[in-house]
Amino acid sequence: MGESPAIKVFPKKVALDVFAAATILELAISAANARGIFHFVLSGGGTPDSLYERLASSPIVERFPWEASHFYWGDERAVPPIEVGSNYRQAHETLLSKVPANEANIHRIKGELNPQQAAEDYANQLLEQAKPGFDWPRFDVVLLGVGADGHTASLFPGLENQEEPKQPVMPVTAHYGGRPANRISLTPVIFNSARNIIFLVTGVDKASAVAASLEGEYVPLQKPTQRIRAQNGQVFWLLDEAAAGQLSNL
Ligand code: 6PG
Repeated sequence: MGESPAIKVFPKKVALDVFAAATILELAISAANARGIFHFVLSGGGTPDSLYERLASSPIVERFPWEASHFYWGDERAVPPIEVGSNYRQAHETLLSKVPANEANIHRIKGELNPQQAAEDYANQLLEQAKPGFDWPRFDVVLLGVGADGHTASLFPGLENQEEPKQPVMPVTAHYGGRPANRISLTPVIFNSARNIIFLVTGVDKASAVAASLEGEYVPLQKPTQRIRAQNGQVFWLLDEAAAGQLSNL
């Protein structure tokens, strides 16, 4: 197993963003120097917007190895890329349209396809980026958010009761909260092979999910964040004080 999670608490979201941006920059530079490539998985949700804007602004934007960077998504909603609600559109607006990223290195999940087809297409895209003998690239940084119900990416609580999926990408069409989820998600097997996984969590409404995940009983099917355990990498939990409010062992 990788090391235990590094938990960091910041007084305000802005301080969390400053730390996250500096950490990602450092990891990107060292990946580009060591391997000539930086594999970066973006998340959806509102939490990373200000981080994406920070990465696209001075003094980070001038130092970031954009040419060497490849972008992926941890999950996507089943909507076309031009629609509000598309995780690709969100990252494009806040980050990718503002930086000299190479279009060919932007690997989006095709939300316009049906989720099963989109999952198969994305597994193929990941295979194309893999080293010979592997099914996907080893990600350098995976960003993840957490919902108040404890979901992460599109891994929802209580939807599955079988073994972890073996495939790296899955359609999520089960009804959740009374409506079809209709999403596509990467699965723990691929997330857990990453070098670094960074949870970004802010706000009091997430406090109980954070405490349950980090200090509660181990029930991974009910608490999807507990399915994220880097095999040979580092997990970071970057929290504001509100989200950390129910943790007792800091
Ligand atoms: C998505 C996500 C999802 C998100 C959490 C937190 O596509 O919605 O990837 O897992 O990260 O729901 O969302 P917020 O950042 O908006 O609280």
